[in-house]
Parts: sequence; structure tokens; C-alpha cells
Amino acid sequence: MSSVIATTAIRGRFLDIQNTVAQAREIHDQVRYVEDGLLITEQGKIKWFGAWEEGKELLSSDIQIQHYKDQLIVPGFIDTHIHFPQTEMIGAYGEQLLEWLNTYTFPTEIQFNNKNYADKIAQFFIHELLKNGTTTALVFCTVHPTSVDALFEAAEQHQMRIIAGKVLMDRHAPDELCDTPESAYTDSKTLIEKWHGKGRNLYAITPRFAPTSTPEQLQKAQQLKAEYPNVYIHTHLSENKNEIAWVKDLFPNQKGYLDVYHHYGLTGSKSIFAHCVHLNEDEWDCMHATNSAIAFCPTSNLFLGSGLFPLNKTWEKQVKVGLGTDIGAGTSFNQLQTINEAYKVQQLQGNKLSAFESLYHATLGGAKALDLDHQLGNFNVGKEADFVVLDLAATALQELRQQRAKSIEDALFALMTMGDDRNIHATYIYGQPAYVKDVKIS
Ligand code: GUN
Ligand code: ZN
Repeated sequence: MSSVIATTAIRGRFLDIQNTVAQAREIHDQVRYVEDGLLITEQGKIKWFGAWEEGKELLSSDIQIQHYKDQLIVPGFIDTHIHFPQTEMIGAYGEQLLEWLNTYTFPTEIQFNNKNYADKIAQFFIHELLKNGTTTALVFCTVHPTSVDALFEAAEQHQMRIIAGKVLMDRHAPDELCDTPESAYTDSKTLIEKWHGKGRNLYAITPRFAPTSTPEQLQKAQQLKAEYPNVYIHTHLSENKNEIAWVKDLFPNQKGYLDVYHHYGLTGSKSIFAHCVHLNEDEWDCMHATNSAIAFCPTSNLFLGSGLFPLNKTWEKQVKVGLGTDIGAGTSFNQLQTINEAYKVQQLQGNKLSAFESLYHATLGGAKALDLDHQLGNFNVGKEADFVVLDLAATALQELRQQRAKSIEDALFALMTMGDDRNIHATYIYGQPAYVKDVKIS
């Protein structure tokens, strides 16, 4: 990895959301659309952003300008919940959560005690993120420390901002996938010391979910978080009705599912809970009071038949939310596809999810959910220069539809409904192209 990162100048059509908001209706006023814009990056950060006519004088004569005449450039997509070891088991038939875990997931994850295997899937996974325009992700590894090394090593090759951690799991899983409270603590501590804050990598303490951790192990997680308050907590919460009933049986002294995590000090501004499909009022209030965040994973919730996430409630209760693909229960790495399904999940509840709100959740809102909105999520000067160059029309049908687009909002909505990895023209990480469609980058 070179320490000097070249200056880059990108000219094209830019779209982002300028500020975080408290209500969906405020997003429209924060939309920034620059039809002929210029973005200058230096050392991986945004140095200047604005209209081409205003910025062109700033460019020295020797600088090469990359001009995207026909594309749309948006901030890099942020995936707030995904499992890299489940990449190969996407589309596993027929089960809901608990049976799906036992039948498909655990046997797949056992393979990740092998570093070579973990390396191979980690490389594939990182490439797949880039190919889909995802520049930051909060990632589950497996219980094996080797899986964490494999992922961070693969991410480092592109200087990607990845948050990840070793799974903590000491019961209700095959022996090969179980750690102990003590080994969970020491292995996580070693990994935090090795990876948290190294380059752009960040660490997440990752109890799989309440049913697979004993109270003793959750206490160890609490101890780790107290020792390293800046690391993240990443887990699952209230995804499936049988899961919720099981947690009630396992933790009879706690008020409910979220209360288990809260009791062990695992809620907070750097805590991200995947799913939250079936929270009760007390739990919504606790999410708000602790400034915890939700990863909304529509393709997964539909695929596993988990339920319909009430996105409106996040605005009502002022709870941070981002989008998650939740591969391999989710069915696409692509955030456009994820938004497509998120829209339908809201339709089934009588609600509308606009294109600009979707863009917000996939970029700045996701950054806020990860407590990284001061560094990521839009084109503000000083932020990290992660962005995606989108082709609005990658197929004949998309072309036909885009010719009729009435506005940038309409064009974006059509893209979000029909788009996928074919629409990702290029993905830039830290100011440099890490993926260009049909071009191999070493
Ligand atoms: N709950 C506990 N583990 C998992 C997992 O791997 N995927 C999903 N979707 N939910 C879980
Ligand atoms: Zn998950």
C-alpha cells in the first residue's frame, strides 16, 4: 500500500444529501444536485467540491481530469449488516431463521477455521462489494480469528473502511463453532489490538445473537466494551417470532430481547442491531434513549419470511437506521436491489419510500447509523473520498425508461427499481478507482 495518494479530479453529474436530518420530509431540502460538477481529492479526502465552472481554475495544468459525461456520481453505498462467510450460501432453500441457521449456515461457517479458505472467500467478498458500489460495510465474520484476519487483510488491499469482528458464540451451535467466555474475550482483545484503527479498519465486538451466548459470555462482551469504548457492538435483534420466544425462555429475568443486550451494557451510539422487525414500544424507546442503530435488511426479511420492518417508526421514535444486505439470508449484494425491496416492504404497510430517502439511508443515513457521518456519506470537503459512478441505463429496458424520466428524482427511482451491479460503472475508494466495470484492476 502506498502512503502517498495521488490527487484526483473528477468531472460529472453529482448527487448527494448535504446534512443529516431528523425527519424524512426534510431530506428533499438537503438534496444537492450538481449537473456539471468537479470533485478534487487529495490524500484520499475531498479537497474541493462544487460546480465545474467555479472549480476548474483550481486545477494545475498537469492534472488529469476524469470526465464522466453520461453517468451519475453518488457517495459510496454503506452496508450496515452483512456476513462475509455466507457469500457462498446465498439462496438456500426453504427455511426460516432458526432452521436455516442449523441446516445451512453453521455447516458453511465451519470451513472458516482454514485461513486459505477464509482468504479465498474474503477476496471474493471484497470484490463483490466493490462491484456493487459498496464502499463501507459492517461485517460478521465467523467465530474463528482467522476469518477476521482474512477479511481485514483483503479490505486493506483497497484501503476500504470495513468494520468487522469475530463472532462470539458459546452455546446452541456445533462444537466446532463454539468458543468459551474466556476465549471469546482473549481472542477478541487480541484482534482489537491488532486491527482497530489500523488503516481504515475498525473493530466490532460481535455476539451472534442472545440465544448463542451464555450470560457469562455476554458479561465478557460487556467487559471488552468497557475496556475499548470506541469499538462497535454488532449483533442481531428481534428478527423472527420463534427466535424472540426462545430468548424469553433463555433469559426469563430480562424484560425482553433488547433488555438482554441492554442489561449487559451492549446498547449505545456504536451499537448496531440487525433487523428489529418486531420491537415493542419499550424496545423502541430503549433504542432511542441509548442512541443505538438498526440495520434494515429487506431482502433478508422477505427471503426468510421474518416480517415487514416498520421504517416509519425510525423517524417517529428518532432511531438511527441504515440498510443492510444481510448476505447470505439476503439475496443481493446490491444496494439498488436492497432499496427496491425496501420500497415494496413499505408499500405493503401503506407507506411510501422516496428515491431521495432511499439515497439517504444508503449513504449519509447509513454513515450516521455507524457513527461515521463526520467522515463518510456525502461530498463535503474533508470527508473520505469514497464514491460510485452509476450508469443510469445498463439495459435496453432501462434506457427506454430513463428516456421518459421527468426529473433526477424520477431517474433515480427508476434506477433503484431496476438497477443492479450492471449499473455500477466504477467504485472509488479513498479517491482512487478500486473497481471499473469490465476493467481488471490489480
Ligand atoms: N441470527 C443469528 N445469526 C444469524 C445469521 O447468520 N443471519 C441472520 N439473518 N440472522 C441471524
Ligand atoms: Zn445477519
